[in-house]
Amino acid sequence: MSPRLKRGEPEQVERLQALSQAFRPAAPIDRQSLFSGRTRQLGDLFGVADQAGQHAVVYGERGVGKTSLVSVAAEVLGAAGVLTARTTCDRSDDYESVWKKALGEVQFTVTKPGVGFAGETRDVRVAASSLLADDATPHDVRRGLQAIAGGRRVAIFVDEFDRLAGADDRLLFADTIKTLSDELPDATVVLVGVADDVEQLIAEHQSIERALVQIHMPRMSSDELAQVVTGGIERARLTIARDAVDTIARLAQGLPHYAHLLGQLSARNALEDLRTNVRLGDVEDAVAEAIEKTQQTVRETYRRATEENGDALYSKIVLACALAESDEYGFFTVADVRLPDVDASSYLEALAEPSHGSLLQRRGEARPRYRFVNPLLQPYVLMRGLAEGDVAPEALRR
Ligand SMILES: Nc1ncnc2c1ncn2[C@@H]1O[C@H](COP(=O)(O)OP(=O)(O)O)[C@@H](O)[C@H]1O
Ligand SMILES: [Mg+2]
Repeated sequence: MSPRLKRGEPEQVERLQALSQAFRPAAPIDRQSLFSGRTRQLGDLFGVADQAGQHAVVYGERGVGKTSLVSVAAEVLGAAGVLTARTTCDRSDDYESVWKKALGEVQFTVTKPGVGFAGETRDVRVAASSLLADDATPHDVRRGLQAIAGGRRVAIFVDEFDRLAGADDRLLFADTIKTLSDELPDATVVLVGVADDVEQLIAEHQSIERALVQIHMPRMSSDELAQVVTGGIERARLTIARDAVDTIARLAQGLPHYAHLLGQLSARNALEDLRTNVRLGDVEDAVAEAIEKTQQTVRETYRRATEENGDALYSKIVLACALAESDEYGFFTVADVRLPDVDASSYLEALAEPSHGSLLQRRGEARPRYRFVNPLLQPYVLMRGLAEGDVAPEALRR
């Protein structure tokens, strides 16, 4: 028997606080100590940063942990003496503004001449972005990086590269990688973005194939998700039953966000009940709460796709889609959507229409395949199905 806690005792309060630190449903991981799994991808990134003239592109679905991966990699490389800078693109960015932002993160020292004959020189700290003129070219960027690096290795991480709208701007990044590999082999550029393949991020990738290492971020394995859960639980000095961990891992569908959310909420339920062991029942109770706490945009998309369509069958169809066997990119066909006595094809077509909230993305004409536009919707739909008794826990699979 685990010892009973007392309500409001420091023991209980400390554990509650530890839970909010250990589980990060809403923010990327920025510390090595909270980071789970991803050994291969991290190893690939370190390899790239270490090899002369190599660069990387990290790509995958939304929410799989790309930002977390590069934050932790940057932390580790920085501690090892590599000069690192990270920036995030937004829709208004172009080639030059991205580099200004990235270099704006780096401070470096310039020596200014003194005043008058005997004036002593003085060292001034300036942001490296001041090195870039307007209309910066890849060569200007190379020169800027060279100046700040001063012989050290540099690694620049450009996140949400998919949001950089201009094809010309992306092309300039490809050119930059080419220029850097030839002329500044100690510099590494890591482009990060939402995409199914590298082509979607940089159409010109073939011309820089040798210099560009492709790092795909798949969804997390069940083992990695289980590690996220048990790691957080242990940090709060709690324990968790095996079936509770498994259920969370299955509901999360490879997306660590839900492992954090359900891990945290289940553990709070146990503490509320003055226990230090988290049980399956705590997870079941957490599901109802997690449904409420799911991002507004996810809930809104679901609501538009189901209730607003005025046909009760839509919610059943969407659940069957969430349960459908899919390929590694999340695509399934109408045959994978198992609903007895219903031909789902017209429903799937409708769910891909903007007038129905564009819940699904459709690809192909003759034999269309579909997937959830926002991967975070799938676990949400499963949690609803579970809470409403429309799906048995055993039916959940990855
Ligand atoms: N390796 C990891 N270990 C633990 N949690 C992670 C890991 N990677 C991501 N997460 C969690 O998953 C969620 C999404 O991660 P994020 O890095 O923002 O994904 P992406 O950039 O691919 O959209 C966040 O809540 C983050 O804390
Ligand atoms: Mg991200």
